Amino acid sequence: MDQAAKWNRPDLVTPETRMTTTDRSLPATPALPGRRRSHRLMLAAALLPVVAWRPARAQAPAGQPLRPTPAQTEGPFYPVSLPADTDFDLLRQGGAAYAKGQPCWLDGLVRGTDGQPLAGAVVEIWQCDAEGHYRHPGDGDRADPAFQAFGRVVADAQGRYRFRTMRPVAYSGRTPHIHLKVKQGRRTLLTTQLYVAGDPGNAADFLWRRLSEADRAALTVPFTPGADGLRASFDIVVAA
Ligand SMILES: [Fe+2]
Repeated sequence: MDQAAKWNRPDLVTPETRMTTTDRSLPATPALPGRRRSHRLMLAAALLPVVAWRPARAQAPAGQPLRPTPAQTEGPFYPVSLPADTDFDLLRQGGAAYAKGQPCWLDGLVRGTDGQPLAGAVVEIWQCDAEGHYRHPGDGDRADPAFQAFGRVVADAQGRYRFRTMRPVAYSGRTPHIHLKVKQGRRTLLTTQLYVAGDPGNAADFLWRRLSEADRAALTVPFTPGADGLRASFDIVVAA
C-alpha cells in the first residue's frame, strides 16, 4: 500500500495514535503489550559540537519574551536503545550510507524566551525510515539498519544546531514529521514534532489538526531545494 492510500484508511490506527489520543500522562517510553525490551538504554553516545554554517539571528526585542515552541506528544517510538552512531548525520550509520528518501539539512537556533542562545543544549531528533518504520521494538524493529533513525547534537555558543537527514515520510495514520527533544543536563525542556509545510497529509493528521494556527505556524516549516538536497530551518524557543 502506498502512502497516499494509507491516508485514506482511518482503520489503520497506530500505537502512536492510541497512546496520544487517550493518555498524555503515559510514561515517556511505554512498554507496549507483548513487546520484548531486549535492548538496554545506552546514553553514552558522543555529543559532537556543531560547526558554524550561518549567522545567528537577531535577539528578541527588549522586554518582549519570545513565544515558547509548542510541545507535542513524544509518541511511542523514542529509542529504547540508541544506535551505535548517534551523530548529526542520520544518513550514515557507521560505515553504511542511507540512499533512500530525499536528503535534507535540518538546522535552527535554540533560544530561551529571553532570546538568548541556549549554548550547550542537547537537541535530539528521531524519525522513521523511508518505508515508514521506526527503529524500535514497538514497530517490529524493521527499520533499515543503514538509517541512523536518531541523532543528538549540542547547540553551539550561538545556540545553533543542525542535522543531516531525510525529508520525513508519512506512515499509517500520520503525516510526515520529525520528533524532537531539547535537553539541558538531565532536564527535558521540550518534546515536540515538526512538520513539512504544504504536505497534503497535514490537514488529515490528528495531531496537526488539533494545533492552533499559531502552533501550526511554529511547528510547520518549508523544506526547500538547495544545492545539497532540501533544507529546513526550525528555530526553537524554550523556557529554560
Ligand atoms: Fe512519529
